[in-house]
Amino acid sequence: MPQTLVLLDAPNAQGVAVLRLNSPPLNTLGLPLRVALADALDAAAADPAIRALVLTGAHAKAFCGGGEIGEFGQPAMTWAPTPPDLCNRLEHFAKPVVAALQGLALGGGLELALACHGRVAEGACTVGLPEIHLGLLPGAGGTQRLPRLVAADLALNLILQGKTQPARALAESGLFNTVTEGDPLPAATTLAAQLADALAAGQPLPRTGARRPALANAAGFFAAARGAAQGRPANAAALKVIDLVEAAVTQPLAKGLAQEAEAFVQLVHGEASAGLRHAFFAEKAVAKLPGLDPATPTRPVERTAVVGAGTMGCGIAICLLQAGLSVTVLEQTPEALARGLANIRAHFDGAVAKGRLKPEQAAAHLARLHGTTADADLADADLLIEAVFEDWAVKEAVFRRLDAVAKPGALLASNTSTLDLNRVAAFTQRPQDVLGLHFFSPAQLMPLLEIIECQHTAPDALATALALAKRIGKVGVVSRVCDGFIGNRMLEPYLRQAGFLLDEGATPAQVDGAMERWGMAMGPFRMSDLAGHDVGAFIRRRRQAEHPDLTFSRTADLVFEAGRLGQKNGKGWYDHVPGEKRPRPSAEVQQLIEAESTRLGLTRRAIADDEIVERLLLALVNEGAKLLAEGIARRGADIDVVYLHGYGFARWRGGPMWQAERLGLPGVLQAMRRHARGPAYQNATAFWTPAPLLVQLAESGAPLTAYTPS
Ligand code: NAI
Repeated sequence: MPQTLVLLDAPNAQGVAVLRLNSPPLNTLGLPLRVALADALDAAAADPAIRALVLTGAHAKAFCGGGEIGEFGQPAMTWAPTPPDLCNRLEHFAKPVVAALQGLALGGGLELALACHGRVAEGACTVGLPEIHLGLLPGAGGTQRLPRLVAADLALNLILQGKTQPARALAESGLFNTVTEGDPLPAATTLAAQLADALAAGQPLPRTGARRPALANAAGFFAAARGAAQGRPANAAALKVIDLVEAAVTQPLAKGLAQEAEAFVQLVHGEASAGLRHAFFAEKAVAKLPGLDPATPTRPVERTAVVGAGTMGCGIAICLLQAGLSVTVLEQTPEALARGLANIRAHFDGAVAKGRLKPEQAAAHLARLHGTTADADLADADLLIEAVFEDWAVKEAVFRRLDAVAKPGALLASNTSTLDLNRVAAFTQRPQDVLGLHFFSPAQLMPLLEIIECQHTAPDALATALALAKRIGKVGVVSRVCDGFIGNRMLEPYLRQAGFLLDEGATPAQVDGAMERWGMAMGPFRMSDLAGHDVGAFIRRRRQAEHPDLTFSRTADLVFEAGRLGQKNGKGWYDHVPGEKRPRPSAEVQQLIEAESTRLGLTRRAIADDEIVERLLLALVNEGAKLLAEGIARRGADIDVVYLHGYGFARWRGGPMWQAERLGLPGVLQAMRRHARGPAYQNATAFWTPAPLLVQLAESGAPLTAYTPS
């Protein structure tokens, strides 16, 4: 039997009937719910026994979660009744309607409430207009009605920041008639009855649209807001929000609503919102692993151990402590242990000094921190994470020891960036309990956690790792085993291509500038300086030895051989001057690059930013497609989320696979073939050989982002 999406109760003695939105889990405003609400309003309008309505959610979890994001940009979004139609209908409803907000009232859900004649909210109800995070604005009257209820500057900030917060934080703002602690329904019912009485006595209904917002020095205020938002490519929505809140202050409601509708349509069909919506769905997708039963039990994880207290081990320990877990750190010597523990303590002391943490919170975290040099102290750990030197002999010794000491069922994880984890698992008698937890540096800050599934990793071990990622506030993405896993394997062709650009005529600053203007947080050369050229050279040399056919520009080796290690010694691709935010281009490096071009017999040429961006992006896309075909990444979404959260790919650009989809695969192939005709020395033909999957999907017309390996 189809579910009744909106329930209309019989009126009480005062003639107040309750309308309950009943589309779990969040009562989002998809077309079926919208139709049901319009029908219920018709029924309530026609029923003479009903004098007033209370609009609420049928379950404590939600009043209404807002628009159905999957409908955005689709025809169904425009089918009547649209969310703006419903809000207008509520505002002009002949009988009083009071919203009773519980659970959450977000976006279009809050806009429904704004259009009602009164609002009562439970203090804990999460409210907000978060559309800006999807490159959109509240398109159901929110930009016009919110400034009519709360101060216009507060309204602007709430919409621009897209912040969600408990209703009680806005209790004094004018947004709500009443904020209750507990069920808002009784107070809402009383208010509805009062409004019905007032209406019967000849008083008009308090319609939000009839209010006139006021703001002293409005022109100066909006000019300052525009100045702050300008110049950022993803800020189209912010600029429109400012225009619209200004319209709310200066124009009649109908004009502002028309302007809002037009702006929403422009944004929803724009590149930024499409990319942000893709990112939103990709993040949801990665949390659910195809083939892993969602009912798979997880193993309990409370006591953890971190082996190795260097750069990564300390960061990992901090993450675990912050999530309330207990951590025992194992080091080789008392000195190394003391150094590591001191680093971890210094992190929490620093957080207290900066006011980010209360002293008692820091003390609670540190009370769960223990240090040892004895393997036996790891015997009760539920999860052991190894972060020792990236060296086979060391890893083998450590894993054999962990296998000997860890309790049955404990998870054995490695933070290795490059080593074959199937081989690591084989050092133990329990390969089903071994997996990779690849944190990114600095581990306490970077949001990505690559979870590496080995050949024999048990499903419940994977489920536990995904749950752990969530618990420690990371975005967990599962990758299968290969050299570099998803993120670093794609980075290699990206960096190789960046090197070829230097040989041909670009400078590091030009390449970085082009990529950063396009949307990367950091261009490839600034990133390499941060990671360190010693680490880079080590990986490059190993890769060259293993794959003699791989071509690299020699420039990176020349920079390393010149003793330029990156930020760590103040010189890499750039000169890093202490106290200066931007590194300076280096004359020495420029000479090295130009000499290399000469050695190769290349006449240096001006390379346009567009070519730089296209070549680097397509280098990522091609490798990403290979990862998908090999089943290392299960979905394009996994690759995109890795790049969004681990490599500073602009969120509004959606990720490399999303970009390929936007460009269209035939266009991607065409561009690769064009680049394949580039200078022969770089082995361009081999570099730009398209991944067979790209060719296959371009021919079939099937979307890349929906592809899953069979
Ligand atoms: P690191 O050199 O800063 O720290 C390694 C620590 O392990 C040292 O403190 C050392 O004393 C300790 N150690 C070595 N052998 C040990 C043993 N047998 N028992 C106990 N402790 C031992 O190295 P880092 O950078 O922290 O890297 C550790 C691991 O994390 C490596 O596998 C690396 O590939 C991986 N990784 C590193 C990233 C980075 O950006 N540094 C990023 C992601 C992964």
